[in-house]
Amino acid sequence: MSWALTVIDPRWAMARERLRGVGRVFFVESSKGGVGKTVFSALLALVLAEKGVRVGLFDADFTNPGLHTVLGVEPVLEAIGEDKGVLPVEAGGVLFMSIAFYTGGRPLGLRGYEASSALVELLAVTRWGGIDALVVDTPPGIGDEHMDLHWLRPDTRVIAVSTPSRLAVESLIRLIEYLGSQGIRVAAVAENMSDKPSLRPLAEDRGIEYIGPLPYDPGLEQALGSPAGLRSTKPYRVLRRLVDRGLDTLGWWR
Ligand SMILES: Nc1ncnc2c1ncn2[C@@H]1O[C@H](COP(=O)(O)OP(=O)(O)OP(=O)(O)O)[C@@H](O)[C@H]1O
Ligand SMILES: [Mg+2]
Repeated sequence: MSWALTVIDPRWAMARERLRGVGRVFFVESSKGGVGKTVFSALLALVLAEKGVRVGLFDADFTNPGLHTVLGVEPVLEAIGEDKGVLPVEAGGVLFMSIAFYTGGRPLGLRGYEASSALVELLAVTRWGGIDALVVDTPPGIGDEHMDLHWLRPDTRVIAVSTPSRLAVESLIRLIEYLGSQGIRVAAVAENMSDKPSLRPLAEDRGIEYIGPLPYDPGLEQALGSPAGLRSTKPYRVLRRLVDRGLDTLGWWR
């Protein structure tokens, strides 16, 4: 991604402009798959909405979108409106946008540049309407989408999700170090599916805020597809309490 591309392809400038209208942006990332990024993104957006924050939720996992399933939104084109752009769908007080509305949830194999193109296209047309915060769920790993997102919104706050498993933790450290080498600071580490704060020292020794532990809740599976159901899960209640107490990463609640 370079400035030259914004001249050749004006969608990049449009996407940047659209994102500039959003108060604060959070990228939920992890190099390891399956640690709970998608669930955490949805819970964070639902907590913020409950607090009266005008919040958007964007599914940047284009090859494997899952947020519509978590929120219980039908992935059909008819769900989204159009008015000088594309309007996100409201679910549980959250404004939601996903590629799934266009693909109908069908599989999508994308090469790197195609993923970049699809991402910028969707961000260029989506009208968030002056929201206070946007939570972005990203695919596992560090790929083109991540680099593009960071370029589009350099002041974003990264929340890295991990479980306490050694495999996930090694991957978390690599992510923190890699992003650091690119000049991107991880703002917070969220420890998911855990009953004790194993990752607190790892985060705090690096000057990173610790969020957690968010417990494993066997009832979460049943709650998928219902914002009200999600709001009754254990990780939601813990996250809401942490947000109530004030998280530096979020910024409003001090
Ligand atoms: N706190 C939790 N309690 C119970 N189940 C959870 C919790 N967090 C996540 N899960 C479950 O773990 C699985 C993986 O979660 P999720 O899809 O959010 O991970 P992910 O990091 O987004 O995965 P991917 O890397 O594939 O995008 C899902 O089945 C989800 O319902
Ligand atoms: Mg996911």
